[in-house]
Amino acid sequence: MNQITPPPRMDIIPANAPFSDQQRQWLNGFLVGMLGLDGTTPLSPEQTSAMLGPAGDGDDGEAPWHDQTMPIADRMKLAEGRPLRRRMMAAMAQQDCGQCGYNCNDYSDAIAGKSEARLNLCVPGGKETARMLKSLYEELDKAPAAATPSPAVVPAVTISATISEPGRSRDNPIDAIFTSRRLLNRQGSEKETWHIDFDLAEGLDYVVGDSFGIFARNDLGLVDQIIALLGAQHTIKVRGKTLREVLTDDVSLSPAPDTLFELLSFLTGGAQREKARALAQGEDPDGDAATLDVMATLQKFSGVRPHPEAFVEALEPLQPRLYSISSSHNATPGKLSLTVDCVRYVVNKRRRLGLASTFLAERINPGDQVKVYVQKAHGFALPADPKTPIIMVGPGTGVAPFRAFLHDRRATGAPGKNWLFFGHQRSDCDFFYADELNAMKTAGLLTRLSLAWSRDGAKKFYVQDRMREVGREVWTWLADGAHVYICGDAKRMAKDVERALVDIIAQFGARSTDEAISFVGELKKKGRFQQDVY
Ligand SMILES: Cc1cc2nc3c(=O)[nH]c(=O)nc-3n(C[C@H](O)[C@H](O)[C@H](O)COP(=O)(O)OP(=O)(O)OC[C@H]3O[C@@H](n4cnc5c(N)ncnc54)[C@H](O)[C@@H]3O)c2cc1C
Ligand SMILES: NC(=O)c1ccc[n+]([C@@H]2O[C@H](COP(=O)([O-])OP(=O)(O)OC[C@H]3O[C@@H](n4cnc5c(N)ncnc54)[C@H](OP(=O)(O)O)[C@@H]3O)[C@@H](O)[C@H]2O)c1
Repeated sequence: MNQITPPPRMDIIPANAPFSDQQRQWLNGFLVGMLGLDGTTPLSPEQTSAMLGPAGDGDDGEAPWHDQTMPIADRMKLAEGRPLRRRMMAAMAQQDCGQCGYNCNDYSDAIAGKSEARLNLCVPGGKETARMLKSLYEELDKAPAAATPSPAVVPAVTISATISEPGRSRDNPIDAIFTSRRLLNRQGSEKETWHIDFDLAEGLDYVVGDSFGIFARNDLGLVDQIIALLGAQHTIKVRGKTLREVLTDDVSLSPAPDTLFELLSFLTGGAQREKARALAQGEDPDGDAATLDVMATLQKFSGVRPHPEAFVEALEPLQPRLYSISSSHNATPGKLSLTVDCVRYVVNKRRRLGLASTFLAERINPGDQVKVYVQKAHGFALPADPKTPIIMVGPGTGVAPFRAFLHDRRATGAPGKNWLFFGHQRSDCDFFYADELNAMKTAGLLTRLSLAWSRDGAKKFYVQDRMREVGREVWTWLADGAHVYICGDAKRMAKDVERALVDIIAQFGARSTDEAISFVGELKKKGRFQQDVY
C-alpha cells in the first residue's frame, strides 16, 4: 500500500476533527505542503483546483451507471467520453459494498490517482471488472496529467482504508476469537444458515450497520488435491512457507485467474496452448470458463504441471469476505455476531465450497483465532433521533443488521417505533430468530412484524408482496417520518422492494409514478432510505 512520508509537524487539522491520529497527521502534512507552509512553493489556484475538484477534469460528477443491476457493457457505454477515473468507476460492480475497502467512486479515484495499485479488489465485479480495469489502467500512463487526480486528492474514506488502526480495515486485520455457532434453520430446510459468535479484542468496537471482514482459510482437502495435481511435495518451501500453508492461507483457489491460464499457455503447446491463451483473454473456447476454479483448471490442462513457485505467483491473493453484523455493541460489549448463509454447490459432480461461509460453518473450532476487521458502514445506520420510526426489510440473511438495530434500540432505550419485514422460504424451518423476534413483539419493542414465506404456498410470496398488502400503513409510517432500510440480495430483491415502495407511495400518497420515484429519490438524498445489499 501507500508509502507515507512523515510530513513536518504543523497542525492545521483541529484536534477534535473526526480523524484518527494517523489521518490527522497525513492531512496536516498534505495541507502544509499544498499551502507552502513548509517552505516549498505553494500550488497555484489552478493547480489546487485541478487536484481537488472533481470538476478539475470537466466531469459533472453524475454517475448514471451507478446501478448494481446494470450489465458492465451498458455501464461502460454510459461512461463513454468521461475521464478515465469515471470510466474506472463504471467498471466497478456499483454495490458500494465496501469489500474493496472503499466505495466504488473512491476505489476508482484511488486507482486513477495511483495510490492504489491493486486492480482485483472488486469482489462482486469479479473477473469482468478486473479485466476492464486492467485495460483502462493501460490508458492511464498515456492520459494527460490533468485527466487523472493526484494521489493527494484521494478522499478521507481512502485514507481510512489505507492507514487505519488495527482491526479497522482490510489492510490491518487483528485476531478475534470464534466462540460458537448455531444452525438457524430447522429440519426440512433447503438452506444452511449459521448464527456465529466472536469475542473481540479489547478496544475493537463497532456500531450497528457496520460489517465484519473475515480472512478465511481454504479447505485443506482442496489444497491437498491441488498439490497432488501439481505432483509436488506439500512441504516444499514457497515464499518462506510450505506450499500447503501458502495454498491454505494466502491465495484464492476460486475462480482461476487469467494469469494462471497465461502461465499454462507458456508451458504447453498446440490446441492446449490456444485454449489457455483464449481463456486468459476472457474467451470461452469450451463453454466452461465460468466453472473453472483453480483445481478444475489443473484438471482441464492435466498434462501441464507448473512449478509450485510459478503456480503460486500466478494466483490471486485471498480476499476477505464481509458480513453484516447482527449484534449490538451497546447490548453486548466485546461480543459480535454474524448470520451466515453457507454456500455449497456441485459442478460436474465435484462439491464446491464457498470460502468464508464454509470456513465459519465447519473449519474453525471454538477458541480459534480468526483475522478480522470492522468495515465502517457509509450511509447505513440507525436514525440520529432515537424517536424516528424505522421500517426494515430484510429477507433471508438480510435480517442480520436489523437484529442488530433492534438489540441496539432496546439497549439504548430508543423510543422510536420499529417495523420488520422478514421473509424466507418456509415458515416452519426458515424463521431465523423466531423466539427472539416474537418476544420483542410481545414486549412492544417490535411494533410490527410482517412475514412472507416464499415456498409455503403454491405461488411465490415475497416481502414486497406483504408490503403491498399493508401499503396504507407503510405510507402512514413514511408520512410520520419513518426511515426505510433494505438488506440482502442486490441483484433482484432490493430493486423489487424499491419498486413496491414506489407503488405504495403512488397509491396511498396520491402521486403519479414519476412523482413517487422522485419521492423515493428525496428519501435517499435525506438518508431516509438506506440499503446494505450484496
Ligand atoms: C456488505 C456485505 C454484507 C454481507 N452480509 C452477509 C451476511 O450477513 N450474511 C451472508 O451470508 N452473506 C453476507 N454477505 C455475502 C458474503 O460476503 C459472501 O459473499 C458470501 O458468504 C459468500 O462467500 P464465500 O466465501 O462463502 O463464497 P465464495 O467462495 O465467494 O463463493 C461464492 C461464489 O460461488 C459461486 N456460486 C455460489 N453458488 C453457486 C451455484 N449454486 N452455482 C454456481 N456457482 C455458485 C458464485 O460465483 C459466487 O460468487 C455480505 C456481503 C457484503 C458485501
Ligand atoms: N444473485 C441471485 O440471484 C441471488 C438470489 C438469491 C440469493 N442470493 C445470494 O444468496 C446469499 C444468501 O441468501 P439468503 O440466505 O439471504 O437468502 P435468499 O436466497 O436471498 O432468500 C431469502 C428469501 O428471499 C426470497 N427471494 C428471492 N427472490 C426475491 C426477490 N426478487 N424479492 C424478494 N424476495 C426474494 C427467497 O425466495 P425463493 O428462494 O423461494 O425464491 C427467500 O424466501 C446472498 O449472498 C444473496 O445475495 C443471490
